Amino acid sequence: MEITRPTPTGKEIKLDSAQMLVSKTNAKGDIVYSNDCFVDISGYSKEELIGTPHNILRHPDMPRVVFYLMWKEIRRGNNIIAVVKNLSKSGDHYWVTTDFEIKKTRDGKIRNYMAFRQGAPRNVVKVIEPLYRTMLEIEAKDGMDGSAEYFEKFLEAKGISYDEFIKELATPKGITSMFFQKMKKLFSD
Ligand SMILES: Cc1cc2nc3c(=O)[nH]c(=O)nc-3n(C[C@H](O)[C@H](O)[C@H](O)COP(=O)(O)O)c2cc1C
Repeated sequence: MEITRPTPTGKEIKLDSAQMLVSKTNAKGDIVYSNDCFVDISGYSKEELIGTPHNILRHPDMPRVVFYLMWKEIRRGNNIIAVVKNLSKSGDHYWVTTDFEIKKTRDGKIRNYMAFRQGAPRNVVKVIEPLYRTMLEIEAKDGMDGSAEYFEKFLEAKGISYDEFIKELATPKGITSMFFQKMKKLFSD
């Protein structure tokens, strides 16, 4: 299905902490399933989403390197938590923390990826937004190698790995964590 890229409005859709946006893709990243919440927030119909590459949600403010690193990890079968700014059909955006789950065939090949998203807390967006802005500026000048190097140095200066950085910043805590685990289990069974 031919989709026209929406123009960003700069308006944010604030997500409720009880909202879980779930999607499943094939190994290429085409959407094969989306829950009602994901459909609602995206602004697209289920028919528009199913069979479409996941970059239908890509916001131009997102540095390319974030997706590069994300794909590198999930293709290896590793889970990763990513903070992503998504674009809805209306052009409004919403920030999410995305937790992946990798589904494999009996012989160990990747069959599907699942993404579980919740609204990113304010404190997370406050740290990530300026970081991504800088990375995007660097990318425009020096390409993805430049933004990857900047991000590496950013973590080095903090003396932590990406996992530690994101766990510290964005892992759901308390009740939110319980809700998150429950939803993941529901979709995994
Ligand atoms: C399970 C899964 C979920 C994804 N969710 C998103 C998402 O919510 N937003 C997004 O921009 N990209 C998402 N992606 C990444 C896209 O496939 C794509 O790499 C990204 O949008 C960058 O697009 P581009 O390479 O065309 O620039 C997801 C990929 C997978 C496998």
